[in-house]
Amino acid sequence: ETSLNLFDLIILSMKINKAVFPVAGKGTRFFPITKSIPKEMIPIIDTPILFYIVEEAINSGIEELIFINAENKKSIINYFYKNEKLEEFLKANKKHHLIDKLRVIPEKIKIHEVIQYEQLGLAHAVYQANEFISNEEMFAVLLGDELMISDTPVLKQLIEVSNEYQAPVIAIMEVPLESTSKYGVIKGEPINERVYRFSEMVEKPFPEDAPSNLATPGRYILPGEIFSIISNLKKGSGGEFQLTDAIREYAQNNQFLASKFEGLRFDTGIPSGYLESIFYFASKREDLKDTFRTLVSKHS
Ligand code: G1P
Repeated sequence: ETSLNLFDLIILSMKINKAVFPVAGKGTRFFPITKSIPKEMIPIIDTPILFYIVEEAINSGIEELIFINAENKKSIINYFYKNEKLEEFLKANKKHHLIDKLRVIPEKIKIHEVIQYEQLGLAHAVYQANEFISNEEMFAVLLGDELMISDTPVLKQLIEVSNEYQAPVIAIMEVPLESTSKYGVIKGEPINERVYRFSEMVEKPFPEDAPSNLATPGRYILPGEIFSIISNLKKGSGGEFQLTDAIREYAQNNQFLASKFEGLRFDTGIPSGYLESIFYFASKREDLKDTFRTLVSKHS
């Protein structure tokens, strides 16, 4: 009775359990702090932004994290590795409550780091994960400066769509037309209220060239076949190897879906989005929300 039948095996082999985090960027939109602190490690009060993004992945069923990192951003990977010395010290000093505050990720989660020596674009970054992912496998990509907060994690919402249609999926959201030049933008045909099928996608179009106002805020379920497409890719927008171009090429020959999602999204890669995320978290924290309200009225 405990043996797996063919159906279970197929489902198991299809399970999306690896996530890629491209975190090698220089963080130029966040100078000067990013001269020495990775933008992904900037805290929202006391917890780095990237923790929340990794948490979204883990709460979506991801079991293997692949960080595409830069040589000088070791603090990222050090944060997620288990710090046994520190934990032992806290235990020995009977400070168990502080161990909980460390927010250690579960033991079963595997962590890999690949160094991307040159930053040649998002597609180039994702390509660095190819040694960990097979051609037949679907995997997740989460951008390290896009923070999503929702009851059902946004990545999980995408995985559900992907499982239902057996196809890769990207998250989309409506944006004002004047801001299409900040995003990859799709042209899609709706299947239902949330899900679209698309075969056209453009990186950072000017409003007059944008195929729609459906922009992609950095959550992807991609097919393993994307690696061979990337390996033949030409440079695109901004002289970089664009993931958008690889996705479009795949989508022109295969089913690719885009799905709206429920939840809040903060672009923590820019100061205003980062500030909003702090406001949001401060207003939700039991230990801070009253102080927060007092401070906002005091300084307004
Ligand atoms: C990247 C992607 C773009 C996507 C955006 C979301 O651009 O290339 O398609 O819409 O992230 O944040 P970046 O903001 O890294 O220039």
